[in-house]
Amino acid sequence: MEIIVLPDAAEVGRVAAAKVASVARRREDPVLGLATGSSPTAIYAELAAEVAAGRLDLRRARGFALDEYVGIPLEHPESYASVIARDVVGPLGMDPALVRVPDGRAADLEAAAVEYDEAIRAAGGVDVQILGIGANGHIGFNEPTSSLASRTRIKTLAPRTREDNARFFDSVDDVPTHCLTQGLGTIMEAREVVLVAQGEAKAEAVAGAVEGPVSSAVPGSVLQFHPHATVVVDEAAASRLRLVDYYRHTYAHKPAWQRFA
Ligand code: F6R
Repeated sequence: MEIIVLPDAAEVGRVAAAKVASVARRREDPVLGLATGSSPTAIYAELAAEVAAGRLDLRRARGFALDEYVGIPLEHPESYASVIARDVVGPLGMDPALVRVPDGRAADLEAAAVEYDEAIRAAGGVDVQILGIGANGHIGFNEPTSSLASRTRIKTLAPRTREDNARFFDSVDDVPTHCLTQGLGTIMEAREVVLVAQGEAKAEAVAGAVEGPVSSAVPGSVLQFHPHATVVVDEAAASRLRLVDYYRHTYAHKPAWQRFA
């Protein structure tokens, strides 16, 4: 795991976007794993700027969202289908026909989940998965005690997650109770993962994921088994990391040939 500690959220977005772009540029039709929520918004803004400047072309890129609420109307502005279309597909110049979001309105949710995993596999797997982390340590919506081997499936959102996401809705009661989420096993199959976290509220989850024991109690800790995981955090999100000085030292001495930003 590479842990990069940066002064502020803007730098987190810039460096994480550079990592994503470096993977995306390796092929004409890269497969991107797309997180929603606040954490990756600066990544998408940076990637959109690269596209606008003609330095990155994502017209043939494929995309798979991490998750979707169950039961929310497609046209609801906070459905992840809406968010991905508005904040990702449009600004990044992606082809909407090549971007998938789990179908949280499917009559048969279990079948939709299985089909989603199959679609990722049929696309050749995810080249680079963008991730945020919940304050309770979730990645995707794999809440604590999710199986570390889980596949895309229905999950019940933790009360903490519904409270944290209430800011996107009129009230916490309007936040859906269930979701479809890529499983931890699904996420682990991505060839590269880039996790970003900003702010003090994420510090405990980041410390648990990066330095804690690997445990379903902190689902993000499964990334310790990932061969190519990059964790990019600001000072506040890094504030509970015991080895923070080592991470700073490592990044400062990164050989030129290994740098991407
Ligand atoms: C989003 C997702 C979640 C979020 C996490 C952090 O698709 O799967 O894991 O990344 O809840 O959310 P924010 O970034 O809003 O703090």
